Amino acid sequence: MYFVNSQEYDKYTQDDLSVWKTLFERQMKMLPNLAEDDFLHGVRTIQFTANKIPDFKELDQILGKETGWGITPVTGLIPNKEFFELLKAKRFPSSSWFRKLSELDYLEEPDMFHDIFGHVPLLTNADFCKYLEKMSVIALKYIENEHIIELISRLYWYTVEFGLIQTEHGLRIYGAGILSSKGESEYSLFSDVPERADFNVLEILKTPYIKDKFQTKYWVIKNYSDLTDSLDELDQLLSQINDGSLIVN
Ligand SMILES: [Fe+2]
Repeated sequence: MYFVNSQEYDKYTQDDLSVWKTLFERQMKMLPNLAEDDFLHGVRTIQFTANKIPDFKELDQILGKETGWGITPVTGLIPNKEFFELLKAKRFPSSSWFRKLSELDYLEEPDMFHDIFGHVPLLTNADFCKYLEKMSVIALKYIENEHIIELISRLYWYTVEFGLIQTEHGLRIYGAGILSSKGESEYSLFSDVPERADFNVLEILKTPYIKDKFQTKYWVIKNYSDLTDSLDELDQLLSQINDGSLIVN
């Protein structure tokens, strides 16, 4: 596939390592009280450390043993069909470049810190992996229908990227978009500005996402099986939308 490349581990510079190290240390100082425990456990399982840029080959070995997943390096944002095909095949697409050291909080497109630090730890959780896989199977069924793919992207956005979870220690983060952002990690849990609502598939399908600033609404699950369990409902809703008996814009 044209967008698949390789990590070229030997080409990382001292600046790349500094970006990884700075962002990793910054997030790991803050996240022990903000991130959901399985994410933190995943960070230990995949042996992330501040002083080493993760090597995709090593991640593949660890994830392979844990859940059968792996990482496929890609050139950047990829088409929906290829994106969902990779997920269905248990391959998480990741960029392999880093943002500039001088622009640590500015990102036009997801870089490797977001893709790897934000997403990979939860790929050690079997329920979460099942969710990605089953969602992709549904997405591929409707891959020619742009509107439906947009709605599925909203569900991905408000769960995989910006999801919150109610735990015995209180409200925590599991969405990678939040976990890889210093500002949004605190804002999503503590700010009075955004709304926080119980997870609801239909409501999420109706909510366009916000790309260039913090979210105004977060959805809260109780556990990861809520996500997988919601996919039958998603499938039913999409089939109604597809045949015109339900309108969602
Ligand atoms: Fe992401």
